[in-house]
Amino acid sequence: MSKAVIVSRHGLPPGPKGSLIGGNLGQVGPRRVDFFLDLARTYGPLASFRIGRWRLFLASDPDLIHQVLVTDAKCYIKHFGARTFKPVLGNGLVTSEGDFWLRQRRLLQPAFLKAQVQSYAPVMANLAEAMLAKWHTGKSVNLEFEFSSLTSAIALKTLFGLDDQGDRERIDESLRQVFDLLTARLDMPFQWPLWLPTPTNIRLNRALTDVRHVVDGFIAAGRARPRGSDLLSTMIAAQHDDGTGMSDQQLRDEAMTLYLAGHETTALTLTWSWYLLSQHPAIEKKLVEEWQRVLSGRAPTPSDLTALPYTAAVINEAMRLYPPVYVIGREATTDLELGGYRVKRGYTVLMSQWVNHRDPKYFAEPERFSPERWLNGLAARLPKFVYYPFGGGQRICIGSHFALMEAAIILSTVGQKYKFTLSPDAVIDIKPQITLPPKYGMPATLERR
Ligand code: HEM
Repeated sequence: MSKAVIVSRHGLPPGPKGSLIGGNLGQVGPRRVDFFLDLARTYGPLASFRIGRWRLFLASDPDLIHQVLVTDAKCYIKHFGARTFKPVLGNGLVTSEGDFWLRQRRLLQPAFLKAQVQSYAPVMANLAEAMLAKWHTGKSVNLEFEFSSLTSAIALKTLFGLDDQGDRERIDESLRQVFDLLTARLDMPFQWPLWLPTPTNIRLNRALTDVRHVVDGFIAAGRARPRGSDLLSTMIAAQHDDGTGMSDQQLRDEAMTLYLAGHETTALTLTWSWYLLSQHPAIEKKLVEEWQRVLSGRAPTPSDLTALPYTAAVINEAMRLYPPVYVIGREATTDLELGGYRVKRGYTVLMSQWVNHRDPKYFAEPERFSPERWLNGLAARLPKFVYYPFGGGQRICIGSHFALMEAAIILSTVGQKYKFTLSPDAVIDIKPQITLPPKYGMPATLERR
């Protein structure tokens, strides 16, 4: 770890002038990714801005990102945006810190190793087939909704062993409400404490109670039945070195975290992949040829995936242009140095995949959708933190194997049977929140191949 508080230059990194009270709040705007891109292009590898009382840096040089996420990781915690979700994620892996986080990460890691994750492949393929059984040529769908329902069903089955659609609808609806209310809270310059009975807090607390009730039911059922192959069973059986296991409260926090962190992100990868494919018929054709050659109409097994390099390239490229997590942030817990500037305790350093994934130094014509760029080993040649859809360092996504396998299985299972035409009047735009959904959904018409 580099030594704390070495200041080689005075003052803040360069950045745009802001107003006295809000700082740069007005400039950030709803399409905050554009602001980040402007900031990096105008002010260089480390830029500074302010939102109200929060001082933020944007680090866009891969070495600086490495310093924050790897070298000095112990001097930072998750930033205020991640902490906003503590009421729902509790002390789960995404929001916990320090020794507690490390103990939990060690406990959960084995459940996400490649071999364990591969055992979920049949569930993924079967549930994708079940979705296709409800589709027909001419049907109008919102692709974002379809893929989100599918990845939610996969998450509930692999996490809790659940098949019941009623359970799924109950948890999805309450969670959506919680999520919307917390996201709106994140955008507020001032946040009332949750215990104050404001109308929004009352709604939020009610929705939270609902979600907890549903998940507690899943946990009680999980404890009562013989050990299954689902992640909850694995978590119930897991023991720390001292022989203790997780409490019900901790199981609930981890289960909610895995459900929330896992399914929407993968659904967005699929939604944006299909959007890009619908705009590039020649690429889609090449992809379908790969599936015909390797799979001849059947769903892939994990051992097929290495024989589908173009499928992997399409997924990589979709996550380059539309990273489901487009920014991550850390708050300094001590004064320290970054890029020759002082990061004071309480400052936030942001790192944006949207920005780095569009760096023309590493990606020729960065706005062009070109899966070909990933063939011939680009991923291995790129320096660290040029392309990092799953983050990096000790807090790297625990579910990356799960997500990549799920995306490849669904893309090929669905794409061998159906193609999509975007609705002619569809307006496609992004809506940067914690993740990057399409602002107005992804309306499309289905056509059987
Ligand atoms: C395409 C899909 C996914 C993307 C793009 C994604 C992205 C990320 C990123 C960028 C982080 C790091 C955040 C940070 O450093 O602040 C992260 C962490 C995490 N992700 Fe994912 N994720 C995906 C799928 C999944 C899946 C499928 C699961 C679980 C089944 C999952 C569970 C988690 C957890 C638990 C963490 C926190 C890890 C820790 O701090 O120890 N993610 N993810």
